[in-house]
Amino acid sequence: MYSEKVMEHFLKPRNVGEIEDADGVGTCGNPVCGDLMTFYIKVEPKTDDLDEVRITDVKFKTFGCAAAIAVASMASEMVKGKTIAEIINLSRKDIADELDGLPPAKMHCSNLGIEAIQEAIRDYLKKIGRGDLAERIRGCPPQDN
Ligand code: FES
Repeated sequence: MYSEKVMEHFLKPRNVGEIEDADGVGTCGNPVCGDLMTFYIKVEPKTDDLDEVRITDVKFKTFGCAAAIAVASMASEMVKGKTIAEIINLSRKDIADELDGLPPAKMHCSNLGIEAIQEAIRDYLKKIGRGDLAERIRGCPPQDN
């Protein structure tokens, strides 16, 4: 049911952990399955030029299913070294494609990966006083309480 790549990233996830002095932190959850994912990012240079700012380090923690762990691991590899402008154009399909596909019932798990990274970018932009730019990035979808 899972591709070899999914199994490989699930069994040996990359970039697991936490960055204590992260420039941005983002957590998203899925209200249906209850899974959670948090991404920590370091960026350089610390400006508001989205074509210039690159992710130099990334770590994640997840309380999620096998697909969520594989997605977070692959997403962390995909965003390292990329600019914010490149990352905000990534879709959940891009991550799923890199993993050689996910079962349809597990596609929502790849949403969590992309949303949590975008949330960490939003956090960084808010911290440098560019909340206006952060508003343009999707991040976690609004949730009903
Ligand atoms: Fe919820 Fe995978 S089942 S993230």
